[in-house]
Amino acid sequence: MAKVPGSAGLPLLGDRSYDFYKDPIKFQLKHLEQTKSRIFLSRFLNMPTVFVGSNKALKEILTDNSDKLNLGYKQFMGEIYGSNILFTDGDYAQGLRSTLKHLFTPDSVTSYKDTIERIVKKSVASIDSGASLCAYQHFKKLSIEICLSLFLGLNFNDLEADIITELTTTHWHGIISVPVALKIPKMSESSYSKALDAKRKLLDIIQKRRDEKCHSFPQKVETLPDLEEVLVNNHLLLFTSALVPKALSSILTSFLIEVGEKGKEDLQDSILNDDEMFECILLEILRVYPPFLGGRRIITQDFMLDGYKLSSGHAMLYLTYLAHRDPDIFDHPDEFIPLRWLNKNKNDRDKLFCFGCGPRNCLGQDLVWSILKTVIKELLCKYKLILESGQNLSYKWLPVSRPIGNVMVKFEPRHTNNDDVPT
Ligand code: HEM
Repeated sequence: MAKVPGSAGLPLLGDRSYDFYKDPIKFQLKHLEQTKSRIFLSRFLNMPTVFVGSNKALKEILTDNSDKLNLGYKQFMGEIYGSNILFTDGDYAQGLRSTLKHLFTPDSVTSYKDTIERIVKKSVASIDSGASLCAYQHFKKLSIEICLSLFLGLNFNDLEADIITELTTTHWHGIISVPVALKIPKMSESSYSKALDAKRKLLDIIQKRRDEKCHSFPQKVETLPDLEEVLVNNHLLLFTSALVPKALSSILTSFLIEVGEKGKEDLQDSILNDDEMFECILLEILRVYPPFLGGRRIITQDFMLDGYKLSSGHAMLYLTYLAHRDPDIFDHPDEFIPLRWLNKNKNDRDKLFCFGCGPRNCLGQDLVWSILKTVIKELLCKYKLILESGQNLSYKWLPVSRPIGNVMVKFEPRHTNNDDVPT
């Protein structure tokens, strides 16, 4: 029985959290090179931690071995969110999942489409086609409006929407990176207490929206069987927090970077004309630019993984970024090749872990696909996306992946056959 390669070092002295925060990709690649293994041991958050970046092993962990792992987020985010599904395990978690699943059935997701389309159409119509826009900020504003309208029934003509948006930002500053739950160094006590204050205010607003009984999503939550009051409010807080809009804007910005470069106009056209190709492009965006680097677990029972013994009491980080670039599954893993999803990787959708995997996978992923597809289609129907040349496109990966600099883009109106052609 082999030991996991690498070292957990001495408590405190051997802790490598700082290196991880400073440059998580460099940290992973360095350990991969040193240990010659995509499964390695290090000390993180002062706990011996097994890092898993092998695609096959990651899948095995999240599916076959999920009963030997607890989610590892409560320690960091428990207070800032209050009790919700992310801090539960075992049968209780499965019970909560079957309740919450009602909100994300295919019928439910279809019923959210009108709201999504209305907001996206309004946003697309308001684009100033001559101006340069910061892609991430543009998509963040849109994603916030979609999420708050959908989950709280907000009307963005009201002043209240601005106040709530601001509260979610303050709350976010107290959230300590999810799903790779890491304590952000230098976060001051005062921003944490401001975040807790924002949480209380957001919960009051959520209760008020529920009492008003006139908005579809909160009303839907109301009808869920066996969900205590406090859990109803806390899950609405989870869904409306800044986390989801940030992840959506991350994906949309990465999309724009890949298809907006000069010479990639064909890719934009193919999205409009070929649904299969559109799907391939989105899958490749998720593979190369996962919004979250991975997730955290605590091992509750010893088990074997790829010939290594994983010990109870240790922590585990699953590394989505590394698994998505595992050369055993993806040829030329660092290259953006949408067509791989029609060829060698045709049946490998289950080897993407952007939305987790197995019994604790993301409940909102169908809704996310629906939002992404609506935004992209509406934009491309009206505009060609043109990324300004010569920009710094390097990424930061924590807490949510995004380009470090402002990525500037122009939207050039597309002329269709129905347009009036000036004489
Ligand atoms: C781009 C947006 C999103 C991304 C990238 C994302 C990603 C993820 C990931 C990776 C997990 C699994 C965490 C783990 O394995 O530890 C997860 C869980 C979850 N997601 Fe999402 N998510 C997104 C949007 C949403 C939305 C819109 C909702 C619902 C409104 C949602 C609801 C959930 C829930 C309830 C869980 C917990 C499931 C459980 O613990 O059993 N997510 N998400």
